[in-house]
Amino acid sequence: MSTMRLDAGPAALLWLLFSLGEAQSLLAQPVTGPFSQEQAQRGAKSYAGACAQCHGTDLVGGVAPPLAGVAFLGKWGAMPINALWMAVRQMPPAAAGTLSSDTYLDLTAFLLERTGHAPGSALKVDSKALLELKVAPSPATTPRVTPPQEFIKGTGTPVPEGAGPTQNELNAADTSKKDWLYHTHGYSGTRYAASTEITPQNAGRLRAACAFQLGEQSNFQTGPLVYNGRMYVTGVRSTAAIDARDCNLLWKHEWTPKEKESWLNNRGAAIKDGYLIRGTSDGYLLALNMSSGEFIWARRVADSSIGEAFVMAPLIFEDRILIGPGGSENGISGWVGAFRLTDGQPDPLPGLEHPAGGAAHQRVHVHQRQRLVGRDQHSLAAAHDEQGRSKCESGVAVVDMPGHGGHGYGSNPERDCSGHD
Ligand code: HEC
Repeated sequence: MSTMRLDAGPAALLWLLFSLGEAQSLLAQPVTGPFSQEQAQRGAKSYAGACAQCHGTDLVGGVAPPLAGVAFLGKWGAMPINALWMAVRQMPPAAAGTLSSDTYLDLTAFLLERTGHAPGSALKVDSKALLELKVAPSPATTPRVTPPQEFIKGTGTPVPEGAGPTQNELNAADTSKKDWLYHTHGYSGTRYAASTEITPQNAGRLRAACAFQLGEQSNFQTGPLVYNGRMYVTGVRSTAAIDARDCNLLWKHEWTPKEKESWLNNRGAAIKDGYLIRGTSDGYLLALNMSSGEFIWARRVADSSIGEAFVMAPLIFEDRILIGPGGSENGISGWVGAFRLTDGQPDPLPGLEHPAGGAAHQRVHVHQRQRLVGRDQHSLAAAHDEQGRSKCESGVAVVDMPGHGGHGYGSNPERDCSGHD
């Protein structure tokens, strides 16, 4: 080699000088990244002023979707930077496009820095990087994504023994005029309370007694539960207990999503023995202490990465929670699973078949995609008529229960009901 270089004479020397110069300029200003360091720094300031109040100071945990982490990368990672820049320009929601063009580029730079992109030359409205690069940097530079946590143990005090409602109270919920113990009132799923105080004649004179705001950006789809004068309501991530007489807040719990969320709606919780159980939009079952709101446990039982999300209120019978995911619009196969009340462990119901492939919980009905519309889980009813035949309301699945009509588990777990509730 050294002989060759000597032989090459002045040409080789020139080449050497040129490559040294290039190396120096590379060190001084790397051209690897799609934005400049200054843009990212300005973006961080703009974010703190215009975005943090909704998206959280650290880009996660606010009322608005996370802008960093597994859930964010799951949704945006494979998209071109252009898509994220367009979403940023829609912000703040009520004032889209009111920030300067440079500020929107700065904010995009700041978000890209947080996904692990290295800074480089400034991002401009006509940068090739907008279309050519993805929101997540190349696999080699992608930060390691930790797998979702299957089980999270809370710090909440153990549920006091004997705390209601008991199974007997739940069995009698259909006839209660005082409490509303289950999403559809009772296991019959009629949503009918035999109240005599409100009649067709006086219903028009009902007036609002009080109002309560959960402080979430989504709409309320919850079916409130009432037990001993307390009302339990859910939003997408928040769960609250309020005084049913004056709407005073008793406690509130905020779930921080661990994964991508689908379907930002929630239809309610289920209560029994001091536990409040609900599902989350990122596929977790969540147990809270009914009296204090303390977090007891969470278990990931649905796969939000394929579009499964819990929007329905679960049903609790004896020591099991029954729930199924929504998301047929995402092309998922519906299922109903049974899980242990004390820790959310899958706890199959005898008589219900396991899905082919032996997933951890039962999929009691797996249909072809085209047959799925209207078959994701919006509510569960456990009902029998006098002959022990299951009745079907406008909810979707009907599950046979022992001791409620006196028939065994799962003689026919799903009825062919169509249509959403
Ligand atoms: C008043 C609350 C609020 C503020 C302030 C706000 N956002 Fe948002 N943002 C939302 C909500 C709600 C959504 C989800 C619904 C939507 O896309 O409109 C959202 C969605 C987004 C998304 C898409 C996220 C996704 O996963 O779909 C991005 C990116 C974003 N915001 C960035 C910003 C930036 C950057 C700012 C600061 C300029 C900002 N937002 C300010 C409430 C807010």
